[in-house]
Amino acid sequence: MNRRTTLAGVLALSMGLTLAGCSTSDGTPDLKVIGAFMPQPVSDIAAGFLVVQNNGGASDRLTSVTSPLSDDVTIHETKNQAMRMVTSFDVPAGGELDLERGGNHIMFMKLKQQPKQGETVSVELHFEKAGPIKVDLPVKETTHNPKKQ
Ligand code: CU
Repeated sequence: MNRRTTLAGVLALSMGLTLAGCSTSDGTPDLKVIGAFMPQPVSDIAAGFLVVQNNGGASDRLTSVTSPLSDDVTIHETKNQAMRMVTSFDVPAGGELDLERGGNHIMFMKLKQQPKQGETVSVELHFEKAGPIKVDLPVKETTHNPKKQ
């Protein structure tokens, strides 16, 4: 075996490893929604909470939310106890986007009706890369907070 073929072998081996690495993280987001709920609203405003898990090899962004409950649905972050609208939320590769009480949330204004505990509210999450995901938010009691159970 001369020096040239040895080098070629090493190159082939390292390229093989690179390709194997790529196939386990194929550069697309792989999104799954868990823990969704809506506290029963006490006015014509409601909030929605959920976790978007990304098991894929690329990050994505939640860009908008739509729902038959309201024509005015936005995404908000909470900083220093004040909330403000944002244009998108990052869903990191191998990580998750957490919408939880006291933090980031989905905001529904001008509700067409007030959903009651035990009902569900359907929403559609829209992402920069992944296709839209439909989620049914179960309506929980107004003070419901899974993080405090
Ligand atoms: Cu808000």
